[in-house]
Amino acid sequence: MKIVVSGSIAFDYLMKFPGKFRDHFIEGALDRVSLSFLVEDLARERGGSGANIAFNLALLGERPILMGTAGRDFPEYRQWLDDHGVDTSAVRDIPEVFSASFFVNTDSENNQIGSFYTGAMAYSKGYRLAEAVSETPDIVLNSPSDPKFMLELADELFTGGIRHMFDPSQQVIWLEADDLHYGIARCNMLIVNEYEWEMVAKKTGLTREQFLGEGKMLIVTAGDAGSHIYVEGEHVQVPVFPVDRVADPTGVGDAYRAGLLKGMASGFDWLLCGQIGSVAAAYVLERSGTQNHSYTLPEFVTRFRTQFDDGGRLDAWL
Ligand SMILES: Nc1ncnc2c1ncn2[C@@H]1O[C@H](COP(=O)(O)OP(=O)(O)OP(=O)(O)O)[C@@H](O)[C@H]1O
Ligand SMILES: [Mg+2]
Repeated sequence: MKIVVSGSIAFDYLMKFPGKFRDHFIEGALDRVSLSFLVEDLARERGGSGANIAFNLALLGERPILMGTAGRDFPEYRQWLDDHGVDTSAVRDIPEVFSASFFVNTDSENNQIGSFYTGAMAYSKGYRLAEAVSETPDIVLNSPSDPKFMLELADELFTGGIRHMFDPSQQVIWLEADDLHYGIARCNMLIVNEYEWEMVAKKTGLTREQFLGEGKMLIVTAGDAGSHIYVEGEHVQVPVFPVDRVADPTGVGDAYRAGLLKGMASGFDWLLCGQIGSVAAAYVLERSGTQNHSYTLPEFVTRFRTQFDDGGRLDAWL
């Protein structure tokens, strides 16, 4: 199965401030804020939903094509993704700017002050799948990126009759009701977390029954309560893979998507696809950062079988 993952490619700059932000905001002087926090820790992590999903798919033995735009800080990141088995030939370089970047400073009370710079991601408008890949893919995951680009891609997939998994994630907040309708009308499957589904339902006025009534598939992830796959009149409830320790939940959703797609590429039933997603997510939960985990396929399968029963079907990967 030829999988294209479209989505953001970004760096996260994570800082730690040992004090408390609130000690430095002076009441009565908030109209003239000029603050500088001396941070004791700075980490730069590779991220972006598109890159995260592609990375996890490559760990699972697929060779996904990552589609997106990245800036002049991307060469080393490209090498990293190439080395892990992602096809980065459809990542367009925008040398004038930096890649999308998220800067966040966390204080000793876990309060955060962050800034997001869209950078090269804002240059994805007008980038068409037909230019990005030479062969028509079997499925395209339309993950968070520039909102206009996401809608253009939705239309290109719909018009071209290409299977479209719409994954608006945090962009649900920025997409207007009309835009959400537009993307949803042009997808075969929608994947969101519970909160995002509530937002979609509220903004569009769609109920789950109406959505499913159009023959589309819905996947709703629910954090430590697992996930729900609604397909062809069925409701498949997928349990989580329990972990001993949650180091950092960032990127779990991306890993789950990769596992689900890997299951689909293997031709498995929906429960097994979801369980693969649960195990892929567990690896990310246990590590801080979204691409700092690794496993071989035999290790993954052994771990899967400590909790779930695949009836031997995962042997096909080995
Ligand atoms: N605490 C947890 N323990 C085990 N598995 C978890 C836990 N949290 C999440 N997962 C797994 O990851 C999947 C996706 O999680 P969640 O619904 O939180 O996604 P999300 O909100 O999109 O996450 P993010 O956007 O932060 O990556 C869940 O369906 C579940 O399988
Ligand atoms: Mg998410």
